[in-house]
Amino acid sequence: MLLAPLTGMDPGVMEKHLEIPPSPQLGDYAFPCYVLARSWKKAPTAIAAELAAAVEPVPFLERAAAAGAYLNFFLCRPYLAANLLPEIVRDGRQFGSSDEGRGRTVVIDYSAPNIAKPFGIGHLRSTVIGNALYRLYGACGYRVVGINHLGDWGTQFGKLIVAYRRFGDAALLEEDPVQYLYDLYVAFHSEAEKDSQLEEEARTWFRKLETGDPEAVELWARFHSLSLKEFKRLYDMLGVHFDSYRGESYYNNLLDKTIELARSKGLARESKGALVADLERHGLPPCLLRKKDGGALYITRDLAAAIHRYEQYRFDRQLYVVGSEQTLHFQQLFKIIELMGFPWAQRCVHVSFGLIHFKDGRMSTREGRVIFLEEVLNRAVELALDIIREKNPTLQDKEKAARMVGHGAVIFGDLVNDRVKDIEFDWDKVLDFSGETAPYVQYSHARICSILRRAAAGESGDALEEDSGVKVIEDIIKKDFKGAGFTGAELLTAPEEQQLIITLSRFQEHISRSVEDCRPSYLARYLVETAREFNKFYHSCPVLSAPEELKRARLLLVEGVRIVLWNGLELLGIEAPSEM
Ligand code: ARG
Repeated sequence: MLLAPLTGMDPGVMEKHLEIPPSPQLGDYAFPCYVLARSWKKAPTAIAAELAAAVEPVPFLERAAAAGAYLNFFLCRPYLAANLLPEIVRDGRQFGSSDEGRGRTVVIDYSAPNIAKPFGIGHLRSTVIGNALYRLYGACGYRVVGINHLGDWGTQFGKLIVAYRRFGDAALLEEDPVQYLYDLYVAFHSEAEKDSQLEEEARTWFRKLETGDPEAVELWARFHSLSLKEFKRLYDMLGVHFDSYRGESYYNNLLDKTIELARSKGLARESKGALVADLERHGLPPCLLRKKDGGALYITRDLAAAIHRYEQYRFDRQLYVVGSEQTLHFQQLFKIIELMGFPWAQRCVHVSFGLIHFKDGRMSTREGRVIFLEEVLNRAVELALDIIREKNPTLQDKEKAARMVGHGAVIFGDLVNDRVKDIEFDWDKVLDFSGETAPYVQYSHARICSILRRAAAGESGDALEEDSGVKVIEDIIKKDFKGAGFTGAELLTAPEEQQLIITLSRFQEHISRSVEDCRPSYLARYLVETAREFNKFYHSCPVLSAPEELKRARLLLVEGVRIVLWNGLELLGIEAPSEM
């Protein structure tokens, strides 16, 4: 970077300090000079003035000017347009990717539903946020390992086995396993209220499972594989991928070793037959690592999993995408890892998120507390279909568009919020075609596709065909490319055009920031902003009716927007129809 040699700062660090000024009149980027005040022993305003005078002219910079404690940079628009637009079109689906994470590995633990308990909305949040992070880290060149730490072990299996043996129905189980296992679980609890024997029976069956009783193991394996099949169907629906499905049960035979290790480090003490890790000195409540009856706990499995994962992947970062109600659990887990002497404890991050409240009763919760993911998705597709039928009655494959829009609305409705905050989920809001929503971004994308299709039809005299617009753009690039630059750039002088170009130039930096903070919301908001800039541009700058040269330049600009919107949505796990 330009400033780095003048300041003696590391370019990467410098870049992190760069801000986007509140209004474009103040420049495209600003460097806050108070960052240097301490080391330079000077007032920030003096530093700003000094740097402004020292910045050497370079082609991409129009000027640098001091404004109070800030040094503001104004990029050279024609230069940017001439270089950026061909670059976007050349890179296509790769545009926005970088190799800043090359050689580094990140493990992401997300989704992690529990077998026999429903795939609820909290798991949806984890799935959606984790999936976006998986894609974003991948785009930054990291080696990414996605792990689904399934809740596939625990006393609930004792209950399920008892309930299934008493009143189970194999056909119902096959038909809708996730729902049916949940029903069994609920049935167990209502029976247990009447029959006090049941709880004891469940404990016995769980012990049988732990000691490898064939009937118990056979039932567990059936519940497991049927549920997994069902989860995978949902993941396919959402385009979510995992590299590993090692759930809690996978660590069963590593638990003794893990507990022994904790004990040998002086971390755990016996207390009435149970094993406890004292963390009071570190400001945390103590936690059980082994129960009196010898059973291990959720945290013991997490400890075994973390050690195992580190041995296997040597990760540079490990993210746990789990709701904020488990904050204490992860504080304890990371502290224990640290106290066990593993320096990689520092590399573990709890990427926490808040709750979702449904605004109206249209998506009522069963039993007053759970919501089934599939119901939410189906509902979203239905509502999207109603809107599309009304807005675009002649559209060919309305169902396909409705699927993309409905799923997109739910995913984006989550991701656009800062993840740590609670969300109030409002169907009208997430499906609003002009709000901060997926449908708005998707609609802008489809609008551009339509411009490109019409340009293609005008050019060839042919009927409109899906994706034919891309061909026109390829032609333009062939004709208009002169060396590295693009000759029509100087024609894009309208403020809306310039603002749009600047916005496009910020795509990559929003990806990096999303990765760094594990906040896909940065990218989601950026896409809304890009769509807004595009719509402003399109409102005041006609494309197809512009004079030939200008039309070609604008087509290239519009294609750049299309690529950014498409790639951005893709990174969030959302598809974009070319018509809707
Ligand atoms: N199955 C757990 C739950 O639903 C989430 C697991 C998260 N991952 C982990 N490694 N603890 O609460």
